[in-house]
Amino acid sequence: MRARGILVNRKSAIPLHRQLTSALRDAILSGRLTPGQRLLSSRELQTHLGLSRNTIVDALGQLHAEGHLVTLRGVGTFVAQHVYRRPEDKNESKSGVVPPPATAYLSAQSLAANLHETVPFRPGVPALNLFPSAQFKRSFNARDWTCRLLDYPDPLGYEPLRAAIARRLQQTRGIACSPDQVLVTNGAQAAFMLIVRVLLKKGDLAVVEDPGYPNVRATLMAHGARILAAPVDWAGIDVGAFARRRARVVYVTPSHQYPSGAVLSLDRRFALLAWAEKRGGWIVEDDYDSEFNYTDRAQPALHGLAEGGPVVYVGTFSKVLSPALRIAYIVVPPALRDAFTAAQQVTGGTPDAIVQSALARFMDAGHLGRHIAKMRKVYDERRKFVAAALSAVPGEVFRVRDSRAGLHFIAELADGIRDDEVSERAARAGVIVPPLSSYFHGKVSRNGLVIGYAASALPDARKAIAALTSAVSAVENRAP
Ligand SMILES: Cc1ncc(COP(=O)(O)O)c(C=O)c1O
Repeated sequence: MRARGILVNRKSAIPLHRQLTSALRDAILSGRLTPGQRLLSSRELQTHLGLSRNTIVDALGQLHAEGHLVTLRGVGTFVAQHVYRRPEDKNESKSGVVPPPATAYLSAQSLAANLHETVPFRPGVPALNLFPSAQFKRSFNARDWTCRLLDYPDPLGYEPLRAAIARRLQQTRGIACSPDQVLVTNGAQAAFMLIVRVLLKKGDLAVVEDPGYPNVRATLMAHGARILAAPVDWAGIDVGAFARRRARVVYVTPSHQYPSGAVLSLDRRFALLAWAEKRGGWIVEDDYDSEFNYTDRAQPALHGLAEGGPVVYVGTFSKVLSPALRIAYIVVPPALRDAFTAAQQVTGGTPDAIVQSALARFMDAGHLGRHIAKMRKVYDERRKFVAAALSAVPGEVFRVRDSRAGLHFIAELADGIRDDEVSERAARAGVIVPPLSSYFHGKVSRNGLVIGYAASALPDARKAIAALTSAVSAVENRAP
C-alpha cells in the first residue's frame, strides 16, 4: 500500500488518530485500498506519514475493531476480504433504480450551500469563536429536568423559553404577544416549512423578494405555490409590484433584506400592511438578524406596527448565538394557534427540550442581552473596517451598500464584471462571497458580492480584501 492520498491536517481540532482512521477507512470504502491488499507496516506508515507510533497504532486498532482490517501474525496487515465498497456513482444502487425525489425543488443545488468551514466573509454566520460557552454550559441545570421536561415535549416548546422569548420581543421589538403565541421550532427553516403547510395549498400565489432568500423560495415551490417575485430596491420590497394581486402570503425580511441588506422604509411597511388588510393576504416577517442594528433608530418590527394584523413573525437564535442550536420561533396569530400546534405535532419539529431549558436559563440570567450588546460592538467595528477598506480600493472597484444593520452588506461591482466569476475566483483563494446575481428568481438586475463581515477578525478581513481585489482584477483583465 502506498501512503499517497492519505492526508491529515495538523492544524485541525480533530485528533490526528481520528483523521488517519477516517482517511484510511475512506480509502477502503472507496476501493482505493482493495480487499486483500497489504498495508504498510506501522513503522513504514510512521515514516511515510510523519506521524507518531501511537497515532498509527490507535488508527489501525480502530479499523481492526470495525472489521476493515485483519492481521496475520508475522505476515502483515491486510484489508479485510468482506468489506463493503461504497458505490462510485451516487446513483448506483443494488437494483440500479433510485426512487426520484417527490419534488425537483428540494435538490441540494437549488438551495444555498451551507456546509463550509468558517471562512472569511461567508454571509449568515456569527463569530462562533466568541460564543459564550462558559455561561451556556452553566445554563444546563439538572433541576430543570423534571419528569414533565423529559416526557414527550409540548409541541409549542418549553414554556419558560416561550415566556423568555415573549418578554424579549416585547422589550426589544415592540411585539406584544403571550407565551402561548410563541412556537419554538428547529431553526427558522423548520418554521418556514410549518408556515407553508398551514397557510398554503398547492397553486396558491406567494410573493417573495427578488433577489431573495432561496431556502424560502424553494420551500414554497416544493409545496406547489405559484411564485410572484417582487423587485427589491434600496428601500426594500416594491409593494406596488403586487398591490393589485390577491396573494396568499408575502415573505419579507424588512429589518435587513436578504441578501441586499435594504431596510424596508416606513411608508412601504404601511403599504404592505394595507395590502394585506385589503387583499386578505398573510405577511411572513423573517426578522433573522434584526438584533444587529448599528444606528440609533432601528425600525420597529412589522408585527408591532400591525397590532394584531395578519403578520406571522419568525425569529431565530442562529445569528445571535449559533446556528448549531437549531432554535427559532414563530409568533403565531391566535386564530392560527391550533392549526400550527397540530402541524407541529405531526412534523415532530420541536427542538431538544434540554437545550431549550438551558437557553431559557441563559436568557433569564441576562446572558443573551449582554452577549448581543457585546457582539453588536464587535460587528460594528468589523463592518466599519471592511466597508472603509473596500471603498478605499483604488479604481472604485467596490461600491459598498451598507445599511448599518445585520451581519452582511453588498459590495456592488462595475457593470461588465461578472459577480459569479469573481465569487468563484475568490472561493479558490478561500474567501466565500456569494454573487448577488445568484439570489435572483427573475431577471438579474444587479451585480455584486454578499460580504458577511461578522465572523472575520480584522487581520483576516484585511487578507480577504486583498484576495477579493485580486479576484476582481483577474476577471477584469480577462473581460473582452
Ligand atoms: C434570510 C434568512 N432567514 C433565516 C435564516 C435563519 O435560518 P435558521 O434559523 O434555519 O438557521 C437565515 C440564515 O442564514 C437567513 O439568511
